[in-house]
Amino acid sequence: MKKACVIGFPIAHSRSPLIHNHWLKTHGLQGLYEQREVKPDELAHFLRNLAVEGYVGCNVTIPHKEAALSIISEVDDIVRRTGSLNTVYYEGGALKATSTDGEGFYQNLLASVPGASLAGKKVLMTGAGGAAKAIAERLLRADVAEIKILNRTLARAEELCAAFGPKLRAISQDHFGAESKDVALLVNTTSQGMKGQAELDIDLASLPPDAIVADIVYVPLQTTLLAQAETRGLRTVGGLGMLLHQAVVGFEKWFGLRPEVNPELFALVARDIDPDFRP
Ligand code: ATR
Repeated sequence: MKKACVIGFPIAHSRSPLIHNHWLKTHGLQGLYEQREVKPDELAHFLRNLAVEGYVGCNVTIPHKEAALSIISEVDDIVRRTGSLNTVYYEGGALKATSTDGEGFYQNLLASVPGASLAGKKVLMTGAGGAAKAIAERLLRADVAEIKILNRTLARAEELCAAFGPKLRAISQDHFGAESKDVALLVNTTSQGMKGQAELDIDLASLPPDAIVADIVYVPLQTTLLAQAETRGLRTVGGLGMLLHQAVVGFEKWFGLRPEVNPELFALVARDIDPDFRP
């Protein structure tokens, strides 16, 4: 029986077991996806002995996404460009890693807004952390024209711009109104709007009517940002879909079958977040 797991510290909150075990069950595969608490000082030993522990691979979450880079030597270009990884697998006997957050964001966007095309278009992104990096890296490969970065800490936004080149530009909150007039996509990559956190303080009035508004926050499922966008008649992309789509890549590498993100899976995980969820 093939086994995979998610490692983190703490790990109790992970919804990855729900997702992967659902796919194993619905595809009738003999397999198991577990969660393992791995402390920072245990990380190197755990990853180097992943097969000995009985695993074909694992997901890596907070606080190990950056630290794992120094342990796994064979990482792909996405990991090199973003400086973090979340999916570990064996290929030809070698331990390798990739990062699937950017792909998860992009595939969820395409699934949520069929026919959406961002090539040559402008994007406004709030946040400049790990999630912002992963999404910016994927959007650049989708040939967007520009990514404007709005972040609480300007210096961090400028660092991101320096790392990713001239298509990124840091903007200030004061200029949000003017800078949001010509964007095809607004994406929140901060934790603002998450249950228990401060709300995102932006006014969507200046976005063009055909703009898409995306949020990576999925607790609550419908953030204030997404509700405001819907009120304005804008197309929206929720955060839960990103979580589901980022899991596809790992499942295929470990279990040899590309699973589907469908309404049944969405409802299963949505109910775990909000028992009152109705499709
Ligand atoms: P992640 O890996 O999930 O992206 P992170 O690297 O800690 O997490 O980044 C969190 C992002 O959310 C940052 O852009 C952070 O802004 P700072 O760079 O100024 O810290 C942003 N963020 C988090 N809480 C915020 C808040 N209350 N107000 C504004 N920005 C916030």
